[in-house]
Amino acid sequence: MFASAVLLAAGKGKRFGSAVPKPLFRLGGKPLLFYSLRQLDSCARIQEIILVASAGNMAAMRSFLRRHPFKKVKKLVTGGLRRQDSVRAGLLHTDKRAELVLIHDSARPFVDRKMIVAALRKAQATGAAVAGVAVKATIKRVRSGVAVETLKREELREIQTPQVFRKELLLRAFKTWGRVTVTDDASLVEKLGKPVSVVEGSFDNIKITTPEDACFARAILEKKTR
Ligand code: CTP
Ligand code: MG
Repeated sequence: MFASAVLLAAGKGKRFGSAVPKPLFRLGGKPLLFYSLRQLDSCARIQEIILVASAGNMAAMRSFLRRHPFKKVKKLVTGGLRRQDSVRAGLLHTDKRAELVLIHDSARPFVDRKMIVAALRKAQATGAAVAGVAVKATIKRVRSGVAVETLKREELREIQTPQVFRKELLLRAFKTWGRVTVTDDASLVEKLGKPVSVVEGSFDNIKITTPEDACFARAILEKKTR
């Protein structure tokens, strides 16, 4: 089954606050983006990669791609204001043979091929599959500073990317619900009433969001290369 990957790198990196754009922030001598791109590019089940970047970073991205010519990167497209606008931009540029679309945040450098393949397989079978991990914390619903409910931890999952969908399903989800602002793509599919499977992600698969995440990322990188 033809699978396209849409790799998101069009955010503003506001919370991270680095001088260089977050996707190009150097971690272990390589730009952040390099790590997830390497995993996607080397996955035999992925046929093409669409890289989504912000308008202001196009020249820097082109230069990154010249220096790191990953063979499956077929297009560099401009993202949008919201994350989901960037996803849509990438989605609309996927090959017309694509039956599966995998969405991944370049801010998650430690995605591995095992979870990529698990999500692709599950989405092929069920229509939609996302990576998730058990929640370690106790989560309460709080209103006006008062705990009103403690959620059953064993039912909770922290959802990550990759997220994989049958292309036709994701297109339909965007068409119907794309105007509602969401934090992940699966939410739009859930709004259609379609099941979204959750496959095992990993605790290493963190999202680099705030400056301290760079420290965690260096520690994970060190562990992985040991
Ligand atoms: N993203 C994107 N287009 C947007 C917003 C986000 O492609 N309009 C991407 C980011 O590049 C990132 C991923 O979505 O890889 C997850 O977003 P987040 O961690 O929030 O990164 P930023 O949006 O860049 O950071 P911030 O919200 O702090 O500005
Ligand atoms: Mg953001």
